[in-house]
Amino acid sequence: MKVLFVAAECAPYAKVGGLADVVWALSKALRELSVETAIFIPKYRGVEDNIELAEAGELSIAMGGGPCHCRILKGTRPKGGPIYFLDYPPYFDRAGIYGERGEAYPDSLERFALLSRAALELPGAVGFAPDIFHIHDWHTSLVPAYLRFRGFPRSAKILLTIHNLAHQGIYPLERAVALGLPDEGISAITYRGKLNLLYGGIKFADLVTTVSPSYAREIQENGEGLEEILRERAAKGELVGILNGIDYDVWDPKTDPLIWANYSADDPSGKAANKAELQKALGLSPEPKVPLVGMISRLVDQKGFDLVMEAFERMMSLGIQFVLLGTGDPEYEEFFARATRRYPGRAAALITFSEEWAHRIEAACDIFLMPSKFEPCGLNQMYSLRYGAVPVVRATGGLRDTVREYDPRSDTGNGFVFEEYRAEAMLAALKRAVGLYRRDPEAWVRIMVRGMREDHSWAASAREYLRLYEKLSGSERSGEGGTSGR
Ligand code: GLC
Repeated sequence: MKVLFVAAECAPYAKVGGLADVVWALSKALRELSVETAIFIPKYRGVEDNIELAEAGELSIAMGGGPCHCRILKGTRPKGGPIYFLDYPPYFDRAGIYGERGEAYPDSLERFALLSRAALELPGAVGFAPDIFHIHDWHTSLVPAYLRFRGFPRSAKILLTIHNLAHQGIYPLERAVALGLPDEGISAITYRGKLNLLYGGIKFADLVTTVSPSYAREIQENGEGLEEILRERAAKGELVGILNGIDYDVWDPKTDPLIWANYSADDPSGKAANKAELQKALGLSPEPKVPLVGMISRLVDQKGFDLVMEAFERMMSLGIQFVLLGTGDPEYEEFFARATRRYPGRAAALITFSEEWAHRIEAACDIFLMPSKFEPCGLNQMYSLRYGAVPVVRATGGLRDTVREYDPRSDTGNGFVFEEYRAEAMLAALKRAVGLYRRDPEAWVRIMVRGMREDHSWAASAREYLRLYEKLSGSERSGEGGTSGR
């Protein structure tokens, strides 16, 4: 089984959010199941600093605006198999991935259309002929439309994974000429009078998955305008929710080289040293018994920052220490820079993107706060479980599927959960957590250790993806899928 992942991001070469982690870790986990995976992403500026690149081919691709001459570069990582990079400097040799200084690049339609179109030419150029194109999010959602309307042989199947329905790639119809699709193809991906790339992907992919079972259910009710087509696919069993895993090669406090002291579920005592070091590094007072609450997140509406802003004073009045790491919306960046300055020694904000600090904060914190408005899967709550930072989350999407409320009677649960998207509900959950932390340290350690022992590795989820790949390529063998090139 050969699978080509086509995506806008792949960790650690190009990362904005969880998409990058998933592309990397899932493709690796599949290789452990003997699936031959390869990855195809753009060659953004700076990629060459992290991986050795070799020329692997050239492509001349006829887009609406004329031919684009691209190079294909290839890199290889020990456990990961080949990564192909689409090198087209006018589109990708820029400071950002999607934009700069809060401004999205205006030509991302053309940029990612080129990537999608190139994905179909890649097999010919580099000699890797996939059974499955596994595409991710709107950026690569044009792959099935190109396959269908540009006369490529239908020898491969397409699986689309939706990581976030909030981003659909919606553009005015006037831009369609750039795509180099026939009229029939353009109208097929037009939705409510606009080009909608994700809509086209959902419509024409052979199978659609999303990143948690709860999110797969939720988006049929509230699917950002796409619920109808999502329900249609779900009714035919063609919309499947598979929970993401996390990469324990990278995220394991027992071996993590980025944290101050290693520790494990068998002996979590090293957590205290990480807390002390973080407090020292960020100028928080050195108090081992004050609950340290952390947040690591892109600073965007989805993540529930309006609740945190509304409740910030009341959160701090619970007597906690607070640390935040993230960048994003300038409004939130300014709020946290200002708000934390009002609590010297008790609150700190790192307005930046840093893998290293992310690991350190997970290792140091007692509590991890994730009050998302919606959350397709969420990875940080799983990192937190592994690192013994007890999660306080809103019950939505993947958060609902991974965090269970602590029940003192049965002594079960791995965190604290609230339902309603309101500051009061979030505060109440945080209060339950902080209260227990102070009142019953032994129960606290039991919750922590329970979370640390859970298995959120990719192994089980990768097997589910493999099952879907097999189902897809099997249906081809039985002749349902048109002409086979092999
Ligand atoms: C997106 C979603 C997040 C998910 C990630 C990886 O960033 O917002 O919930 O975990 O993709 O699938």
